[in-house]
Amino acid sequence: MNRRYSVTNKSGTLMIEMADSEKVTVEIIELGMGDTPLEVVRHEEGLILKSSFFMFPDVIHELHLTPEEDGYIAKGSYAMFGEIDGMAKPFKGRTKYEVMLDELPSKKTGISIGRSEKEIQEAIDSLMAKMTLEEKIGQMSQGTGRNVAAIGSEKDEVISESEAIAKGMLGSVIAMTGPGVIYEQQKLAVEKSRLGIPLFFCQDVIHGYETIFPIPLAWSCSFNPDLLKKSMAVAAKEASSQGLVMGFSPMLDIARDPRWGRVSESNGEDPYLCSMMSKAHVEGFQGESLGADDTLLACMKHFVGYSAAEGGRDYNTTEISETTLNNVYLRPFQAGIESGAASIMNAFNVLDGMPLVGNKKLCNDHLRDKMAFDGILLSDFGSVDELVVHGVARNNKEAAELALNASLDVEMGVRNYHSHLKELIDEGKVAETMIDTAVRRVLYYKYKSGLMDDPFKYLQPEKNLMVGCEDHMKASYDLAMESAVLLKNNGTLPLNKELKVALIGPKGDSTDLYGPWQFSKLEAGATTIKEALINKGFKVDYAIGSEIEAVIEGGIESAVEIAKDADVILLALGETKGMSGEAASKMDIHLPQAQMKMAEAMAKLGKPMVTLLVNGRPLVLDWFENNVDSILETWFLGARAGEAIADLLDGTANPSGKLSMTFPKHAGQIPIYYNHLRTGRPYVEGDRNKFLSKYIDGPNAPLYYFGYGLSYTDFELSDVKMDKDIMPMDGKVCVSAKLKNTGLMAGSEVIQLYCWDTVARIARPVKELIGFKKIHLEPGQEVSVSFDVTVDNLSYINSNYEKALEPGEVILYIGTSACDKDLIPLTLEVVEG
Ligand code: NOJ
Repeated sequence: MNRRYSVTNKSGTLMIEMADSEKVTVEIIELGMGDTPLEVVRHEEGLILKSSFFMFPDVIHELHLTPEEDGYIAKGSYAMFGEIDGMAKPFKGRTKYEVMLDELPSKKTGISIGRSEKEIQEAIDSLMAKMTLEEKIGQMSQGTGRNVAAIGSEKDEVISESEAIAKGMLGSVIAMTGPGVIYEQQKLAVEKSRLGIPLFFCQDVIHGYETIFPIPLAWSCSFNPDLLKKSMAVAAKEASSQGLVMGFSPMLDIARDPRWGRVSESNGEDPYLCSMMSKAHVEGFQGESLGADDTLLACMKHFVGYSAAEGGRDYNTTEISETTLNNVYLRPFQAGIESGAASIMNAFNVLDGMPLVGNKKLCNDHLRDKMAFDGILLSDFGSVDELVVHGVARNNKEAAELALNASLDVEMGVRNYHSHLKELIDEGKVAETMIDTAVRRVLYYKYKSGLMDDPFKYLQPEKNLMVGCEDHMKASYDLAMESAVLLKNNGTLPLNKELKVALIGPKGDSTDLYGPWQFSKLEAGATTIKEALINKGFKVDYAIGSEIEAVIEGGIESAVEIAKDADVILLALGETKGMSGEAASKMDIHLPQAQMKMAEAMAKLGKPMVTLLVNGRPLVLDWFENNVDSILETWFLGARAGEAIADLLDGTANPSGKLSMTFPKHAGQIPIYYNHLRTGRPYVEGDRNKFLSKYIDGPNAPLYYFGYGLSYTDFELSDVKMDKDIMPMDGKVCVSAKLKNTGLMAGSEVIQLYCWDTVARIARPVKELIGFKKIHLEPGQEVSVSFDVTVDNLSYINSNYEKALEPGEVILYIGTSACDKDLIPLTLEVVEG
């Protein structure tokens, strides 16, 4: 039986639940938050619950609980709840979740009306006719899901979020809080607000809900959009069963700078690959019908250019030319729009002198008018307020004006629309029609998702067993298996199980394998690499050697002792999940010194050495390339990382991932990406002319190219040809080749097709990916691979946002990475006609 206690302070009531399994959960009753403490320390006199709030991860709160009679003396503080000094007595009430379980059956209508588009518009018309201006503005405001966040500015009365919902002042909520709170808030919206319009519940479902998939940077290395689509359908199933309606993903920022921590959330540097992944993600989330109870509305982000932050420093200013914007940064968004994505979140950065949230030219004129996006445009958290900080609005009222005129439909997290839109209309600074249009977009998706007819439909506790179930874990394993990239192998891998393995390093026995931007309760129970290897029958001796960043006294020496007796050293190194993701930019993208020292000590032993990397960004791996036998980049592979890594190590599975982002040889090369322009003075290795585009102290070439990744088997590409070498503008050419598995193991290869438009009205990249196919082959098996190429694949976007291509020469390259030595060129002449 679980025991429950509650203690009160001025914030309200904190409920502490202690399960027999030693698990302790805490629910802050009034604030509507439920979570598991960071750490529970048990000692003779009682226990200490440690907690922290994500914005201040270094501030650790401690709540000391000392048993007394039928409760505990509670002293200290709890994150978000504040100071506590009182008695925790047995809790007699019901949790929000229990209330939901009791009441839900009587609340669900079970009604599902398949309205036509016309009927939806008519329903919106009649609802809008009843709405006051305040209620309309309410639909444009998104709450924080925590009752602490008040609505209202300096001049307004400050009210709580519950009250705001009951007054129809909110249309959606960031629901980081779980189904009990979602239920309570939906009930307020439906039963207490005048028109009873249900709320949308939204959350960051980035790479899974409870079942965590590899980070997006990893999954893009799978070059397998079909698998991603299936995985995102799983994520949508789980999230929607817990009451969520919208997931804040995919993140479609093109990643060219590994210092930027959020490259981990991206699909890498290539617009075509990113577009394919964007489409798969949106289709996986949104399924066949938004009205189904297992789909999520997708929210593509961050519109646009956020990843081009100067210096790789998060939230920093960006400068992007119109050409690059159209041909690089906007492409994945366009692909997602064409797949029917319901919403887009705009970005924090300044671009062309204006933060995106107030950038009319890009958001209204470009996104709406040219890119034909008519879904919900949402701000990022607090970004309307930040217009004042950026210095483009004198006050919050001007900020609200800029945002609405840029066609921002929903303000996330704060209050400017509430406080100022009405006045702005009265003053003629914004048009009421802009508000009506925004509200129509929000209501449209409320009808589409079926919420208007059955507001509680997404709360489905009967599906709880499905969340994190074996089938879902298997889906995560499958994607993980295809996401790891073998960067180097001189034959040490796969590992023979008879070998004595010394597993060394802070990632060897760590559960930190899920990565940033996920909130899964399953993370703490992840199988570590050590456990997975032992489960497979490996003989493993383990030493941590060093922490991720800190030196452990005597750590290296103990690791050396263990490694001395081994046949092979497995170095498990990397980053913590906090070292990538939002607000985790780094100046130095080497592995931390403490780990490097340990790696160097291991190398001195002269034993076969494999490096396993667990990290969220491309690293500078020069030392490893020169000093270890094999390198497997595993990224953060998610819920089945340990098992997937063990299977890849012993050859149960064959690595097939290909890098979706370039690994620099030196950090000074950043930004570095394969699809760069040619320059007027291109450098070719070995040319002795000084006045060429190069460094005087190092190479231009990266360490590992985009598209690169090894396998345990060998592939041979032959018979590369085109069916014609002249193509009229309205024609088509077929590029084909034969691919053979010439090795001894089954495996998959990604055949990549690139193009170079050698002369155009604008300078074109030296290579651009225009197609890929992932092909699985048994040993000795040979297949034909072909790609149809049309003008559509070869053209670029001109300044009118139209596709353009001039007649002339185009080089097509077919091969296995973006590096010239892995590509076979073919010359095509495009002619009028
Ligand atoms: C800020 C991040 O930039 C965005 O990606 C995220 O979706 C929101 N916060 C909400 O958590």
